[in-house]
Amino acid sequence: MLRDKNILIGVTGSIAAYKVPLLVRLLMKEGANVRVVMTPSAHDFVTPLTLSTLSKRPVWTEAFDPRDGLWNSHVDLGRWADLFVIAPASANTLAKMAHGIADNFLMTVYLSAKCPVYFAPAMDLDMYRHPTTQENIHRLTRMGHHLIEPQTGELASGLCGAGRMEEPEMILEVIRLALTAKDMEGVHALVTAGPTHEPLDPVRYFGNHSSGKMGFALAENLAMRGAQVTLITGPTALSTHRPGIHRIDVVTAAQMQEEVMVQLPAHTVIIMAAAVADFSPATVHRSKIKKQGNLEMQLTLKATEDILAGIGKARRTDQVVVGFALETDKERENARHKLQEKNADLIVLNSLRDKGAGFATPTNKVVIISRDGTEKAYPLKSKEEVANDIVNEIRRALSGPAQ
Ligand code: CTP
Repeated sequence: MLRDKNILIGVTGSIAAYKVPLLVRLLMKEGANVRVVMTPSAHDFVTPLTLSTLSKRPVWTEAFDPRDGLWNSHVDLGRWADLFVIAPASANTLAKMAHGIADNFLMTVYLSAKCPVYFAPAMDLDMYRHPTTQENIHRLTRMGHHLIEPQTGELASGLCGAGRMEEPEMILEVIRLALTAKDMEGVHALVTAGPTHEPLDPVRYFGNHSSGKMGFALAENLAMRGAQVTLITGPTALSTHRPGIHRIDVVTAAQMQEEVMVQLPAHTVIIMAAAVADFSPATVHRSKIKKQGNLEMQLTLKATEDILAGIGKARRTDQVVVGFALETDKERENARHKLQEKNADLIVLNSLRDKGAGFATPTNKVVIISRDGTEKAYPLKSKEEVANDIVNEIRRALSGPAQ
């Protein structure tokens, strides 16, 4: 989500600076360009070498480079950034920010920055509670800067209370949200995820290797872009806490089908990412089936209902319907056939012949086939990035001519 975004991090003198290397790493992993500015006292808590190694860029503290005397332009840095996050933000720096005191390089960069500014305070609880600090924070938020609230917990002083800098994973999440266009606002999306389990007896079921990752990544991406999401999921170990996602848990294909049909009319985007079982045992035994000396056993299975095909029949033309096709041979031909047969607008094809694609991997490699015959092949990517590509295609389909 952060590929090629320019993130400037300002580090000030606080013990919480030990969390910044992890934040830099997380941002770099997302493909962001990261630059770091430090106050002189921040050097007491984390070394510039650590941060320059992780960000693959020099770290700035002085207006003049001590090695060659060259001038570091605070204006250039301030203008380069898409987002400036000051983390940790000490009480001292908050006060300077609130009153425009430009007595170090970080402060001159802050005063030149044109981008959104976020700050993550870190200090002892009494310092945080102090009326001056609180007044400074209010002043900064009134200016339009964004407070990343500190957490309550054990502090370096040994005291317990508010003042602990937010964790890097959460700061990353705030940055992601801030830089994600809300281009799905007003859209109601229905996403299915995970496998289904078809019971045979009280202890056994038929299932598949789906982890639910692709469906959850789609739900997260849609919600992050402003959509209201209903996520109907089969059994999975995954969790989601993102506001905007309403999760409904089901177990069997029949339960999923029933729930999807109830939800269908209220949604304009429908994505069938679940790996629905095609067959379920014809008889569900009330008691555990015993071996009874049998060396062989035959089971009768009956076909489940094809949920996507049912959606294809009941759908309205203002809805965008997306199916998946997991194939092992004649991939494109089979996928195109599914798109026609199930009356979908888009089919996301993944081939089990592609390494890193399909079930239970953190990555996927897909071809997105549209109803008008266009095909887009994407390289191997993380499931989060694949979800972003799919939602981009859905966005295009929503804005396109009515089908
Ligand atoms: N699907 C569904 N209901 C089923 C089976 C599949 O809604 N009972 C949906 C899946 O969620 C997916 C699409 O249909 O979006 C294609 O699923 P896939 O398993 O690739 O194909 P099938 O239609 O089951 O056909 P086959 O197993 O013969 O390839």
